[in-house]
Amino acid sequence: MSRYYLNLECGALFSAPRSRVLQLQSSLTPCLHINLWTLFLATNMATAGKVIKCKAAVAWEPNKPVVIEEIEVAPPQANEVRIKIVATSVCHSDLYHLFESMHKDGFPTVLGHEGAGIVESVGPGVTEFQPGDKVIPLFLSQCKECHLCKNPRTNQCEVAWTRINQAIMAGVESRFTCKGKRVLQFMGTSTFSEYTVINQTAVAKIDPAAPLDKVCLLGCGICTGYGAAVNTAKVESGSTCAVFGLGAVGLAAVMGCKAAGAKRIIAVDVNPDKFENAKVFGATDFVNPKDHDKPIHEVLTKMTSGGVDYSLECVGNVQVMRSALESSAQGWGVSVIVGWTDLHDIVIRPVHLISGRTWKGSMFGGFKSKDGVSKMVKDYLDKKLKVDEFISHNMTLDQANDAIELMKNCKCIRAVMSVSPP
Ligand SMILES: NC(=O)c1ccc[n+]([C@@H]2O[C@H](COP(=O)([O-])OP(=O)(O)OC[C@H]3O[C@@H](n4cnc5c(N)ncnc54)[C@H](O)[C@@H]3O)[C@@H](O)[C@H]2O)c1
Ligand SMILES: [Zn+2]
Ligand SMILES: [Zn+2]
Repeated sequence: MSRYYLNLECGALFSAPRSRVLQLQSSLTPCLHINLWTLFLATNMATAGKVIKCKAAVAWEPNKPVVIEEIEVAPPQANEVRIKIVATSVCHSDLYHLFESMHKDGFPTVLGHEGAGIVESVGPGVTEFQPGDKVIPLFLSQCKECHLCKNPRTNQCEVAWTRINQAIMAGVESRFTCKGKRVLQFMGTSTFSEYTVINQTAVAKIDPAAPLDKVCLLGCGICTGYGAAVNTAKVESGSTCAVFGLGAVGLAAVMGCKAAGAKRIIAVDVNPDKFENAKVFGATDFVNPKDHDKPIHEVLTKMTSGGVDYSLECVGNVQVMRSALESSAQGWGVSVIVGWTDLHDIVIRPVHLISGRTWKGSMFGGFKSKDGVSKMVKDYLDKKLKVDEFISHNMTLDQANDAIELMKNCKCIRAVMSVSPP
């Protein structure tokens, strides 16, 4: 019992393994009528309004391993929600910040934007959430009040452009400190931490039945790829599609093309190990650019007698973006840029557009983020959407560097890290 109260006082009950929590619960005398839910609320009361000290993977510098540190997480301020992160995974955008853009002003930071958790406490003015709600953090906000949110033609939100400093891929504000230094919140989310604080416009409430160690993937990669096919490209039934890059984003794009009724889905990747995965999500043809001495758009144009109806670039490479555009059919082809890079310009010939192709970009799959994520979680629970099939590795936050290396070396689809027990 004394250890139980000690844990409550230091706010560390949630970092105890589930077995220990259950053991603690069963050791309480029945007359106290305390169940796990009461424990949860009691713990919240013990931590609400206080600084929480917890574990996080801090990226101190670009191109260096992250370090598991104890950080301080301040209480949520007006319109903010403090969330206990249960599970998170690594997306290529985390790698882009750490190894590719390496913007020195973007450090120290806590990476992670594909996670799921439970609300611990809320700040003044928050009415939509309460402690105990299951939620998914969003790197793209949906305030529901700005002119963009009110327009059905876009998923952009004015708040997103003031909340996040795009140059350094971090929230303008941060509630994190470590060793006396302010630590940035990558994409305003920072899910590689046991606790995080996020503006309520960038949090989606989800079905309480959702398994957080699975639906965390709906915080970025799956919604991004799937939505790019169904919302942005608006793939039509009976069409031919090509998806470039078969990470989680590209595989989800394949799944979206299949759901939209595409008859032929050509999966393109320089790593042939990815083709078996692509088959699971509905790919019908497989092309490795390394097997051909001709430019890949010529290969696809020949395979399809004129080009594909829809092409989706899910790599983040400007040469591949051009190839994807040129692979789409003259006259009506639609090509969508999904991969992220801000390092280079793209060179194309005007004739590729003048001759009738349409070129689009897609952020978070075109989903209005709060509405889209809640609906995608429901579709997963209703067995209309694959999610488990994207998980190739299960790890813990302590293994964050191993998970990052797996992604970097193209050895995983998604490595889900358990952060705090639910
Ligand atoms: N637009 C958005 O909102 C958004 C959201 C999430 C991720 N992204 C971006 O989407 C991209 C994919 O993310 P991911 O997590 O799936 O990455 P990933 O690293 O898991 O997958 C990338 C895949 O591309 C393949 N590839 C590399 N070079 C290639 C080439 N020349 N031709 C064909 N395939 C090639 C790799 O072998 C790998 O399978 C990244 O750029 C990421 O930053 C964008
Ligand atoms: Zn991402
Ligand atoms: Zn808005």
